[in-house]
Amino acid sequence: MWLQCTVEVFPIDIAIVCDPNRGGAGDTAANEEESVSQTPAHPELSDVDQSLSSSDAEEQPGNSVQMRFLFERKEHSKLYEKYMIREPEAVLRMILSYLEDKKGKPFGMAVDVGCGTGHSTRILAPYFEKVVGVDISESQIQEAESVISPSNVSYMIAKAEELPFEERSLDLVTASVAAHWFDLDKFSEEVNRVLKPSGCLAMYCLDLQFSLVYKDCSEKLTDVFNEAIYFLSNEYKDELSAISYTRYKNIFDALPFEDKTRVTDIYHKRQISIAALKGFVESLCLYQSYYLADPEAAQEFLQKLQGSLLKNTGESSTDTELEICNSYTCILACPSPKRNKGPGDETL
Ligand SMILES: C[S@@+](CC[C@H](N)C(=O)[O-])C[C@H]1O[C@@H](n2cnc3c(N)ncnc32)[C@H](O)[C@@H]1O
Repeated sequence: MWLQCTVEVFPIDIAIVCDPNRGGAGDTAANEEESVSQTPAHPELSDVDQSLSSSDAEEQPGNSVQMRFLFERKEHSKLYEKYMIREPEAVLRMILSYLEDKKGKPFGMAVDVGCGTGHSTRILAPYFEKVVGVDISESQIQEAESVISPSNVSYMIAKAEELPFEERSLDLVTASVAAHWFDLDKFSEEVNRVLKPSGCLAMYCLDLQFSLVYKDCSEKLTDVFNEAIYFLSNEYKDELSAISYTRYKNIFDALPFEDKTRVTDIYHKRQISIAALKGFVESLCLYQSYYLADPEAAQEFLQKLQGSLLKNTGESSTDTELEICNSYTCILACPSPKRNKGPGDETL
C-alpha cells in the first residue's frame, strides 16, 4: 500500500510518496524509538528532586520544569537508552539532503539539542567534522557519556534557550523528540544566532499512533496497544502529548523562520519483541508520569498490557517478535536570509 507523505512547505506545498510496507527510505535494523510527553502537574513529583527549589523551578525555560523531574532520574535515563525506539534512516537522509541543498558540503559542526542519552547525536557523527549533544539533564548526559561514541562526538549540559556556541559557528542544529520541551521563541533566537549563513535547523518527532502486525491478530494488537498509549496520554494529558498528536503543526506554525518545511507521514516499520515493546512504553514520559504518581497502578498497567499482547498473539514468550509501524514528522528550516552580515558570511 502506498501512502501519501505530506510535505508542508512555506509558502508552497509539495507531496512525496512513502511506502510504509517498505519502511520508507530508511528500513534500518530493528531498533528503538522515542517518545514525547510532559509530566502533568502531579504533586508527587515534588518528591523526586527535593533539591529543586521553587525559585530554581521558576528559572527553568519553557516546559522544562516538570520535564526535569523525569529526565533527571537515572532509572528513566537507563530505560530511555535501552528501549526508546529510534528515528528511521529516512529522517536522517532527509535532513542531510536538505542541508546539502541549502549550504552544500563539507559539513562542519552539528549540535543536537535535547540530545538525551545521545542516540540522535551519534547518528550524525559520520557526516560532520564535529558533533555536540547538549541536554538540560545531567542524568541524560551522564548516560550519553557512558555509551561508546565516535571520537568526533561530545556532550555537554546546556539549555536549548542558551546555547553555549559562538555566533555563526554551526552548520546544523537538530532536536529529536525534544523541541516540544523548549521555549520556542528563545530557542529560535539562539538557532538564528549560532547557525552559519545557510546553516539549517531540523526538529523531528514520532507520532504516538502505531500499527502492530502479527499473523492474523494485527488489528486486535494494534487496538490494544494504541488504547494503552491513549490511556496514558489521556490520563496524563499535557500539551506535549497533544503536540505529538498534532505532529508538530503548532511548532511549525510558531517557528519564526520564513524558509521552512514540514514533512509528515515518514513511515517506518521494524521488528520488536513483546518485552521490548513493554520496555518502550515504560521509557515514555507518559508512563513515567503515571509511575511517579502511582507506582503500583502503573506497574499493573504495564503487566496487563504485556499480558494482553501475549494473549492476543496466542504466544507465551515475551521474546515473540511483532512488527511495529509508525510515522515521523520532521520540520526543516533555514533561517539565514534575513540575518546581518557577520563572521561566516564568506560562505554565502
Ligand atoms: C524525549 S528526550 C529526546 C532525547 C533524544 N534527542 C532522542 O531522540 O532520543 C527529550 C530530551 O530533551 C531534553 N530537554 C528538555 N528541555 C530541554 C531544554 N530546555 N534544553 C535542553 N534540553 C532539554 C530532556 O532532558 C530530554 O533528554
